[in-house]
Order: sequence, then C-alpha cells, then structure tokens
Amino acid sequence: MEQNNDRDYLVLKDITKVFRDGKGNSVIAVNDISLTIKKGDFVTLLGPSGCGKTTTLRVVAGFELQTAGDVTLDGKLINDVAAFDRNMPMVFQSYALFPHLTIFENIAYGLKLRKLSKEVIRNDVAMVSQMVNLVGLENRYPGELSGGQQQRVALARALVLKPEIILFDEPLSNLDAKLRMQTRTEIKRVQQMLGITALYVTHDQSEALSMSDQIVIMNRGKIAQVGTPENIYNNPNSSFVADFIGNANFIDATVAEVGTDSLTVTVQSKSLAVEKPAEEFSEGEEVFLAIKPEAVDISLSPTGFKGKLDVSSFLGSITEYKIEFENSFITAVHSNTEGTMKHFNMGEDVHLDFKKDFFHVYKK
Ligand SMILES: Nc1ncnc2c1ncn2[C@@H]1O[C@H](COP(=O)(O)OP(=O)(O)OP(=O)(O)O)[C@@H](O)[C@H]1O
Ligand SMILES: [Mg+2]
Repeated sequence: MEQNNDRDYLVLKDITKVFRDGKGNSVIAVNDISLTIKKGDFVTLLGPSGCGKTTTLRVVAGFELQTAGDVTLDGKLINDVAAFDRNMPMVFQSYALFPHLTIFENIAYGLKLRKLSKEVIRNDVAMVSQMVNLVGLENRYPGELSGGQQQRVALARALVLKPEIILFDEPLSNLDAKLRMQTRTEIKRVQQMLGITALYVTHDQSEALSMSDQIVIMNRGKIAQVGTPENIYNNPNSSFVADFIGNANFIDATVAEVGTDSLTVTVQSKSLAVEKPAEEFSEGEEVFLAIKPEAVDISLSPTGFKGKLDVSSFLGSITEYKIEFENSFITAVHSNTEGTMKHFNMGEDVHLDFKKDFFHVYKK
C-alpha cells in the first residue's frame, strides 16, 4: 500500500473560474489560485460561504472546466481529461445515493460501469462494507438507513473504486453533532489506513483543525493562507484568518513604539509588547489586537485591564464568558479542570490579563 511521501501529487496552477450569472454578468468564483498537494495528505479547503470551495473541488473533479490555469495529477496535465476518467470520486453532503437500489447495488454501481466480473464486484463490495461498518445492511434501501449509515455508503461507494484521491464536499453537514464527530474519525481512519489523498471542503473550523494535514483558508475566490492546523491557528497571517479560525477577539489598540524585535501597543493606557509582525507599522498607528478567547484571563484582583462580566455559560469542560470591554464585547474561555472553575456575577467588574504569545497585531 502507498504511504505518505513528499511527492507533489495534485497541483493547481493559476486556476481561475468565471461563471456568467442569469443576467450575463461575470462572477469570479475562483481567482487565480495555486496549490500543491502531496501524495497521501489530507488537505482541507476552509472558508466562508461563497468563497469558492465547491468550485475549486469541481474543477479538480472535472465537473467544471476552469477559465484559466492548469490541473496536474501525478505529473500529468489533466485539463482535458473527462471527470469519469479521472478516478476522483466525490462524497457530497447530500449522499446522492440511488433510492431505488439496495446498499449493495449502490456501492457496486461504479464497478458495474467498469464492467468488472460479478465475483470481483462481490469481493470488493464486501471488503469496503467491512471497512466502513456496513456489514448486514447490504440488502436494505437508502431510505431504510440513518443519515450516518447513508454517509458511510457514500464513502464506501467512493472507496470501492480504489481511488488514489477522494474529494469531499461538506460530507458531514447533514449529520447531528455526535455523529459528525464519529464519522470524522471514521473518514480519517480509512484515509490514513489506505494512504489515500483527500481534498476536503468544509466551513467548519473544528472539522478542518482536527482532520487536516494542511488547511487552505479561502476568502473571496483567493487563498488567504496555507499551513498545518497548528501553524494556522497559532500564526494567522491576517485578521481575516484570525477571525475565521481562532474566533479571535479584536481590540482597538495604538502602536506606541516600534522596536527591532517587538512592537509595543497601548490599550486602556497600558502597554503590551507583541512580537514584531512581518508588516511595517508606524508609531501612533491605530491597529487591531487579536486575542484568542483562551488567552484572556479573568480575575477580581485589581490589576490588568478593566472589563465587566456580561454572561457566563457553563459548557461542561469549559466555561465561556462574555465580557464588556471598551464599548464592545470580548469572549474568554476557561477550561474547568477540577477546582479551578471561576464564578463571577453578571455585571461584576472584572480584571483581564492577556496571555502573551497569544495575540497578534493587524492593520486596520
Ligand atoms: N454555476 C454558477 N453560476 C454562477 N455563479 C456561480 C455558479 N456556481 C457558483 N457560483 C458563484 O461562485 C461563487 C463561489 O461559489 P462556491 O459554490 O464555490 O462557494 P462555496 O465556497 O462552496 O460556498 P458554500 O460554503 O456556501 O458551499 C459564489 O459567489 C457563487 O454564487
Ligand atoms: Mg460549497
């Protein structure tokens, strides 16, 4: 079985896709993106609705022809290869199963199109049914399965084609929270076991963070940042990424001093030193300070920054606090390890500390 290696596998080069809407106006769905995916990697396209994720995936699958740019698979240009011949099955949110075919027939469908023998089909279907826990359900119809089981059939139907790459378009969106978590693990397990390359679309950041080797953050048809989950979470390169992936709080601040390695900003007349970003800043410049909820420490001791507790929500392992701060609101999240849970009253004056290394300065 093929394992992860460092080979460039799927390469998108300067891909642009322009649609014409009903009135004949052009819509730039994907705007000159380039992306290299390594063999065996799990790569996620993450971004808000309408940013071009599905369009990118459909260009890769061959369901849409790009307006400009090249798609290369394993060193071969595939711009002119029809979708059917790309062997890149896609798993959708809506499962897209055939309602009048049994589970066995649904999974076997692609193999029948390939005119494989009955025996090969029976063996291959049995193997993938086992892999995704569908044994015993082969004679049922899709309508007789739960949403999670139907999604596993959709996955089996893709796996049975023995693809080197599978495309996923928000496959878990129709499942409830618990099932979504389970199916997440299931998909990841099979993908790793078989060493399949995965290109996965979602707008759920926790899904992206937990499943991916690489995350590609998209915004308005462009790539905003590419990196490992940890890298993107800890070092977002723009306020857009910080907001999207870390649910960051944005606080107004002023640059007080530009040093060689650090930048000093003031908030509520107090100074904070921040690691110097790549961009140039000037003294007196108004900026955003992005602070993750888990980097906001709340206490009653009268040091630090002043805020007022608005609401606290106990969420089991964590408690989330909404705090009025500088005519706006910020969120703090604390983990409730035994004995450390903090109780504050609504409307109470609280003091905040921002844990260093967890904030970034961005241009306004
Ligand atoms: N066939 C089409 N004709 C015209 N415009 C289209 C077409 N398909 C997509 N678009 C437009 O292209 C842009 C990108 O759409 P796309 O479906 O790729 O977004 P997405 O990131 O998948 O969003 P979502 O998270 O809502 O699924 C949107 O503005 C959309 O309206
Ligand atoms: Mg989409």
